[in-house]
Amino acid sequence: MDSFIKNLPKVELHLHIEGTLEPELMFQLAKRNNVSIPFETPDQVRDAYQFHNLQSFLDIYYQGANVLIHEQDFYDLTWAYLLKCQQDNVVHTEIFFDPQTHTERGIAFEVIVGGITRALNQAEQELGISSQLIMCFLRHLDEDSAFETLKQALPYKDKIIAVGLDSSEQGNPPEKFKHVFQEAINQGFLTVAHAGEEGPAQNIIDALSLLGITRIDHGVRCVEDEDLMEQLIAKRTPLTVCPLSNTKLKVFETMQEHNIVELLRKGLCVTINSDDPAYFGGYMNDNFLAVANAHPVTKNELAQFSINAIEASFISPHAKEDLITQVRQYLAANT
Ligand code: HPA
Ligand code: ZN
Repeated sequence: MDSFIKNLPKVELHLHIEGTLEPELMFQLAKRNNVSIPFETPDQVRDAYQFHNLQSFLDIYYQGANVLIHEQDFYDLTWAYLLKCQQDNVVHTEIFFDPQTHTERGIAFEVIVGGITRALNQAEQELGISSQLIMCFLRHLDEDSAFETLKQALPYKDKIIAVGLDSSEQGNPPEKFKHVFQEAINQGFLTVAHAGEEGPAQNIIDALSLLGITRIDHGVRCVEDEDLMEQLIAKRTPLTVCPLSNTKLKVFETMQEHNIVELLRKGLCVTINSDDPAYFGGYMNDNFLAVANAHPVTKNELAQFSINAIEASFISPHAKEDLITQVRQYLAANT
């Protein structure tokens, strides 16, 4: 099964680029940019990654991002992630970034987008990995700040396919951002949102109806609402599930208790993703392996996760067809 997973063509749809900052690169950038960090070694940083909920992670995660200052830093961060994609046979990836984490520290929008897209373009050319970029609003900040961020993004509209919503779900429901999402839709962006990670199923319902989202990030708490489940199955609304993230942040106590395989078997369009791999102990292959080791899944089901992700991605119908054929051929040749 390990080698089946390793070589299976994969598509990632839930990945925060700031969450790919490995402790070694954090140290390198801290030194290069003369930023102080409260750790002596990369191992010390790893030891500090003990989380008991989403907020305990976010506090450390935003602190880590302080070492990102120059265009080259955003490039280095993104390129390092793309090399992991190459290793894990991720053929297409849709990447989140959090502009406000940086613009609030005085980093220009163009520095962030410039560095990230330079790496993405290079990966397309040199590694054959395609990608899309999604800009997330931080939901712990107010809607005015999100509007300001949307305004800053308009000159880069051709580089950003969608807007999303992340950070602390508790106390920051979808409703808080309904006007800015409507404006984003008017401007031609697709929309996604984190919902039903720590928050209730109602957040999924509201994100679908108030924010016009076409795909739900996490969404694992959908099981708490029967009608919602029926609707998600009927419409094949995609869920970008992040198994290692969910166990690290105690959404589920153990991988055995995770509901991802149950959701797949009920016919939901669930996908496997790494979320913040530098913080949660693994990239795409590690997430697939963690699921396969905790649940008796078939090769067919593992391939279905990839096919679901292709279906759920923001690429052209023609590109989807090509990738699905690739996965089906791989499955046929390896069963
Ligand atoms: N949830 C909310 N906010 C986040 C996450 C997440 O999984 N990762 C990075 N920011
Ligand atoms: Zn996330």
